[in-house]
Amino acid sequence: MITVMGATGHTGRKITEALLKTGENVLALGRSESKLEEIKNSGADVLLGDTTDSNILTKAFCGAEAVYTLLPTDRRSPDYQARQKQEGEAIVKAIHESGVKYVVFLSSLGADLSKGTGLIEGLYAQEERFRRLVNIHVLLLRPASFFENFYDTFGLIKNQGIIGDSIVPDRAIPMIATRDIANVATEALKSRDWKGVVVRELLGPRDLTYAEATRIFGERIGKPNLTYVQFSDADMARALIEAGFSKSFAHLYVEMTRGFNNGNFKSSEGRNSENSTPIRFEDFVDELADAFQAIDN
Ligand SMILES: NC(=O)c1ccc[n+]([C@@H]2O[C@H](COP(=O)([O-])OP(=O)(O)OC[C@H]3O[C@@H](n4cnc5c(N)ncnc54)[C@H](OP(=O)(O)O)[C@@H]3O)[C@@H](O)[C@H]2O)c1
Repeated sequence: MITVMGATGHTGRKITEALLKTGENVLALGRSESKLEEIKNSGADVLLGDTTDSNILTKAFCGAEAVYTLLPTDRRSPDYQARQKQEGEAIVKAIHESGVKYVVFLSSLGADLSKGTGLIEGLYAQEERFRRLVNIHVLLLRPASFFENFYDTFGLIKNQGIIGDSIVPDRAIPMIATRDIANVATEALKSRDWKGVVVRELLGPRDLTYAEATRIFGERIGKPNLTYVQFSDADMARALIEAGFSKSFAHLYVEMTRGFNNGNFKSSEGRNSENSTPIRFEDFVDELADAFQAIDN
């Protein structure tokens, strides 16, 4: 049996589906009964519970051959980092108490840095907690920025006809499809072929600028003049708070984008055939466009 945290999210859902397809027994964890019901119908066992509850997590990890773990992004949490710490400690406690031996953790590019990375600082701290465990094999996946972040641009496109963020338009950064992350995680959970704590960077097929991604998406949805606008840090934070996210999240988000803008998020090994993944933004954009058109009509 393999346990998957965040089984209704971007990566967890794809991992759950892929594991089930290859005949694995899966215990899928989530917080939404209705979303878990869909997963149950595909053949997984499901468990409802909060990711800060180490008792639930211990129950879910007991007897598993491997577990997929992440720190879910609760953008409304009044203290985002305190929440990440609470979740991280609950996960590590549950791993220790359940005796599970193989763990895959969804970290991020930039998690090698302890400071100045905003939202990612909590992932650095979680990597450190895993490193302190003994006799457990942990694969730390460090993916680039998700293509799926462009789902968050729909409101701005509809209301203002632009895509905007506090990231500079012309700095090419690595971006990746969550399907590629899920494929790597699925393979690792099944094969359990590494020893100790291992880091694996996942960088997508190439570096891409926000301006370029906006152009590709705009053309695909019949808006060839769609442009990317860089917001000031203050305007970006204000927009996030107005959208209902916490001040803590908004502050850390902007700090993270400052890190991108300053070129701080570097691959420690450089791009190579091992850390480059196949799905291009041009391949992913059809799915994005379908979702946009469904709300635009
Ligand atoms: N976005 C990026 O560019 C990027 C890049 C690198 C790393 N990351 C990291 O990736 C992680 C997020 O992964 P993801 O995108 O696969 O996840 P996601 O789509 O954000 O989904 C999170 C999952 O956890 C569930 N969840 C949320 N809060 C919960 C709670 N309190 N108790 C139980 N379940 C809860 C969600 O349930 P619902 O479906 O009900 O909401 C969902 O299943 C974050 O740690 C982020 O820092 C993100």
